[in-house]
Amino acid sequence: MNWQKYERVAFLFDPLEQWAGNLSGFGDIRKKYIAPLEGKILEIGAGTGANFPYYSDKAMVIALEPSLKMIKRAQKRLKKTSKQNIKLEQGRAEEINYPDNCFNIMVSTLVFCSVDDPKKSISEIKRVLKSGGKAIFIEHVASQHKFLNAILKILNPLQKAVVGCNLQRHTGEIISQSGLKIIKEEKIKLKDVFRYFEAIKE
Ligand SMILES: C[S@@+](CC[C@H](N)C(=O)[O-])C[C@H]1O[C@@H](n2cnc3c(N)ncnc32)[C@H](O)[C@@H]1O
Repeated sequence: MNWQKYERVAFLFDPLEQWAGNLSGFGDIRKKYIAPLEGKILEIGAGTGANFPYYSDKAMVIALEPSLKMIKRAQKRLKKTSKQNIKLEQGRAEEINYPDNCFNIMVSTLVFCSVDDPKKSISEIKRVLKSGGKAIFIEHVASQHKFLNAILKILNPLQKAVVGCNLQRHTGEIISQSGLKIIKEEKIKLKDVFRYFEAIKE
């Protein structure tokens, strides 16, 4: 399973994320989309908790992550931020251990490149969201720019082998095909590669 690859690279994740984040301004992107969220929130693939500092006190967050090594690091970050409104649990997007219709919002940042079964994951997200609930995704996807996508295709085998991360996913289409309605889509970085999708359960 792809998440098991994160067990090998967990120790590298924070320094790399910090370096890439500083370079790309990704911290500001997280802040822009995460800080306004309120209510009962499910975050999937929380990793080392890079989004945690941006949640407001009005968010009650259940953060799922399959890799225990990533969870350990996320726990440390949680201690540092001293937020009481975030609860970390082990879990996968394909099998969410929560009842139907119980979350207002689902958050996924840089996760749908790695999930083993994106369709099943979306249908689980749909199941646990309340009617009218919102799913927000900040993901990298295949590019429609020929040259850029050619580079992504070259990098893809290495990326897949190291972290199970697929640079050729069409996450927007998967979201729509699996039953959530996309109501907003924005290109946020690297032309059309990094995207923000906002979808609702009708
Ligand atoms: C690139 S990291 C992103 C971490 C974090 N969301 C962030 O924005 O920094 C991808 C994360 O997805 C997790 N992951 C992989 N497969 C998953 C699955 N099937 N369900 C949930 N999370 C998964 C990995 O363990 C890893 O922590």
